[in-house]
Amino acid sequence: MAGRRLVAVLTIEKSEDAVPLARAMIKGGIRAIEITFRTEKAFECIREIIVNVPEALVGAGTVISKEQLFKAQDLGCSFVVSPGATVSLLEAADELSIPLLPGISTVSEIMCAMEYGYNDFKFFPAELAGGMPFLKSLVALFPSAMFCPTGGIGVHNISDYLGLPNVLAIGGSWIAPAALIRDKHWLKIEELAREAATLCGD
Ligand code: 3PG
Repeated sequence: MAGRRLVAVLTIEKSEDAVPLARAMIKGGIRAIEITFRTEKAFECIREIIVNVPEALVGAGTVISKEQLFKAQDLGCSFVVSPGATVSLLEAADELSIPLLPGISTVSEIMCAMEYGYNDFKFFPAELAGGMPFLKSLVALFPSAMFCPTGGIGVHNISDYLGLPNVLAIGGSWIAPAALIRDKHWLKIEELAREAATLCGD
């Protein structure tokens, strides 16, 4: 993530779409992409992107089990993102050689993950789980903690989130809507990526 303030969250149904989609991200100025483990083709998509789009920093998202953590590592991912933070997942991640960005949406989850040495978190689902007021209230409680809000982020609120002192980066799927992927509208997706990257200063 170093220096990157935007993570594109991509859910890809067809493996043939993986490389054009990743290229659209790169052309639009987005390097960090999270491929969610929500589709049957996710593993294949990750393999295709790592081989064919080496400029991309590829992570696995929606990782909820120990098996998926190690699968992401075996696929060659550079990072793993989980929507929540269970004790068993945090314990398993100790054996990983790639970083995990654990998801949190409560104070207790942050405290638990901090016990395992984490300081950087995905805040998910950001807009539903308290949004900016929640993040602001965390500054005094956890001065060292940094967050990557996702869930309900878009061009309308990027700048507000990135303006908070404890926001490291933001993420979201609006850059690659399912309908545009289905229509293989790579140029439109590239434009959305460029708009987002510009707003984030990436
Ligand atoms: C995620 O997994 O981070 C979310 O699906 C992203 O949320 P969004 O679809 O509201 O951007």
